[in-house]
Amino acid sequence: MTILVTGATGIIGRQVVRHLLDRGQKVRALTRDPGRAVLPDGAEVAACDLTDAAGLEEAFDGVAAAHLINFGGDHQPLASGRDIVEAAERAGVGKVTVLAGWREGTLEPAVRASGLEWTFLEPVQFMANFLTDWGQALRSTGRVREPYGDRKSPPIDEYDIGAVAATVLTQDGHHGRSYHLTGPEVLTARGMVAIIGQVTRRDLRFEELTPDQVRREWSVPGGMPSLSLFRAFSQAAGVGDADLVEILLQMYGTPNEYGTALTDQVEQVIGRPPRTFAQWAAEHADHFRPAAAA
Ligand SMILES: NC(=O)c1ccc[n+]([C@@H]2O[C@H](COP(=O)([O-])OP(=O)(O)OC[C@H]3O[C@@H](n4cnc5c(N)ncnc54)[C@H](OP(=O)(O)O)[C@@H]3O)[C@@H](O)[C@H]2O)c1
Repeated sequence: MTILVTGATGIIGRQVVRHLLDRGQKVRALTRDPGRAVLPDGAEVAACDLTDAAGLEEAFDGVAAAHLINFGGDHQPLASGRDIVEAAERAGVGKVTVLAGWREGTLEPAVRASGLEWTFLEPVQFMANFLTDWGQALRSTGRVREPYGDRKSPPIDEYDIGAVAATVLTQDGHHGRSYHLTGPEVLTARGMVAIIGQVTRRDLRFEELTPDQVRREWSVPGGMPSLSLFRAFSQAAGVGDADLVEILLQMYGTPNEYGTALTDQVEQVIGRPPRTFAQWAAEHADHFRPAAAA
């Protein structure tokens, strides 16, 4: 049977592809641009834009299960959710996993109302965010300059999200479930910088900015760092820069139960505990070292 992976070139999609291939599954990896996509040899790479209903028929042809993203370019929620679900149903798709995003679009309600055997994956902050959020600063200055160093989160290794998706797509018993996926431990931002320092054997520091320093430094043109949270909000909600700074201060400064609580759902699905931040950081250590020392 063929399993379709949408968003296959993305952080999570490429992990889903990897785990499915490791399980010996036949994988169709979807991308808008096969010429640019770098995907494992074992995957069939297929071109399709999820916003284009005409291409969906072919994408789902012969597919028994599918991993679905709910967003299109610039991470805007897809308007074509019903088209995607209808194409999947016409093709006789059984199971689908849906990677839940910041905002619900048209896909989620269409999936819930469908006859598909669906499972929603609701991960917290991906560890991969720190490659883009902190990589450059730690390589060049050895410092992360941000507010609220003691803010907590249980970040999850993207490898584990892929493992959960692959398990759900190839196993029975997950229909109608929404899995809140977290890593194995609640960590502070300051603590994560310290862990990266330990695994890279570098003297790395978290330099805490006050909210007023953040407003002063990040609100000027070019002053705002390229943080995943900013990217997600500006892309998903079309929020202006000054508002983004206030949103970030609010989110980092006000812990919320859902974003900081641990769950055991990764282990329940894949039968082993999720990977630790130290394991993830060791695997990506070179990304946090200056080029000469890498
Ligand atoms: N980062 C976090 O901490 C976090 C936490 C929880 C949830 N999330 C959610 O996770 C999602 C992001 O996942 P990700 O990081 O894996 O994404 P990503 O790395 O940004 O990858 C985006 C993928 O979407 C594909 N894509 C975009 N528009 C498309 C279209 N119109 N048709 C077909 N494919 C399209 C891209 O494929 P091509 O470019 O190859 O066509 C690419 O594979 C968001 O919904 C976000 O809200 C993120």
